[in-house]
Amino acid sequence: MKFCYLIIICLYPTLSLGTGKAQGTTTGKWWGVASSQQKSNLVVNRAGVPVVVDQTPLNKKQRKLIRLHPGSLSAITNSVGMSKTECKWQFKERRWNCPTNKNDRGGRNLFGNILESGCRETAFIYAITASAVAHSVARSCSEGSIETCNCDYEKRGKGGKGWEWGGCSDNADFGSNFSRKFVDAGEKGRDLRYYMNKHNNAAGRRIVTDNMRRECKCHGMSGSCQVKTCWMRLPTFREVGDILKERFDGASQIAQTNNGHNRGTRRKKRIKHFESADPQHKHPTASDLVYFEESPDFCELNKKVGSLGTRGRQCNNTSIGIDGCDLLCCERGYRSEIEQVTERCSCTFHWCCQVKCETCVTQRTVHTCL
Ligand SMILES: *[C@@H]1O[C@H](CO)[C@@H](O)[C@H](O)[C@H]1NC(C)=O
Ligand SMILES: *[C@@H]1O[C@H](CO)[C@@H](O)[C@H](O)[C@H]1NC(C)=O
Ligand SMILES: *[C@@H]1O[C@H](CO)[C@@H](O)[C@H](O)[C@H]1NC(C)=O
Repeated sequence: MKFCYLIIICLYPTLSLGTGKAQGTTTGKWWGVASSQQKSNLVVNRAGVPVVVDQTPLNKKQRKLIRLHPGSLSAITNSVGMSKTECKWQFKERRWNCPTNKNDRGGRNLFGNILESGCRETAFIYAITASAVAHSVARSCSEGSIETCNCDYEKRGKGGKGWEWGGCSDNADFGSNFSRKFVDAGEKGRDLRYYMNKHNNAAGRRIVTDNMRRECKCHGMSGSCQVKTCWMRLPTFREVGDILKERFDGASQIAQTNNGHNRGTRRKKRIKHFESADPQHKHPTASDLVYFEESPDFCELNKKVGSLGTRGRQCNNTSIGIDGCDLLCCERGYRSEIEQVTERCSCTFHWCCQVKCETCVTQRTVHTCL
């Protein structure tokens, strides 16, 4: 008994690291693979003593999957970067502009404390990271960098009028299956947040598989296109991001009563479909992003809820949209400054092969939120 107590006391400082809520530390941990190669997973606790949080951001199931599919780890690592870049691009004009942490807690806290809440932004992060794994793995299959998969050669023979299947189709099915096994393996619990995460992961993957497109090449004398071969190509990740952003804007708020876990009983009820928070709205479909908590307004700095605030952000003084100074600066006002921009200009081409330019200094006005 005494021994037990000792262990509990020793473990306590590790368990209470971070935000104190279990969610943020158990879910989405695999994002840490992107930085785990560069940095040990040591962090300093409140008493100033370095402690090992976890040897790896991956759990047993995830590690097994990676061993089973040599080459997949680098596709996963790559997908984390893709998600980060795309998220920032899609939200660059909004109050929440997808801020990320560098190597914080071994990278598992990549998207910060916003994930503590079951809000829209969290829904987007789950969907984009799950879709990025599917996309990146599928692409790696056709590039031959994962040992256990290949191009998708399922489609063969005559395709349609004047064309045949041929060449290397991206293996979206493999990528999507891999993402389901790998990403969803990181989700624990049976609460509403668990179902929300899994739903949004799946919605993200669907965008990859549903938006494959046919690409063709003409053969025959001088490109006469007598014979055409075609294959299926993944959508670009920008397209995936654009669609997900639309889904973000039209995301469905689900009722908190959807909780599939009956407290105090061991029975686990699976959620077939979510009930909308507003009974006037229809049930969200498999493609919709779902959330159940309202987002903060992101106007002021509040790290606890993952808001950096908008002070110091550049805004557009003539736009009435969300990038306009009124909305972006939350009516606090803005400062206008003239900035000198040095550019290369009046470039001329000199035979052969030099381009000579002059240096021009232009001015532009930059508006910054107060
Ligand atoms: C993906 O999973 C589905 C359903 O489990 C299965 O039918 C299909 O064969 C899998 N595809 C690949 C390429 O692994
Ligand atoms: C500012 O917003 C206006 C109106 O939406 C737009 O035409 C203009 O291109 C924007 N300026 C910049 C610098 O983005
Ligand atoms: C917006 O800023 C420009 C300078 O960039 C200025 O000429 C213009 O008057 C401003 N418009 C408004 C509506 O404040």
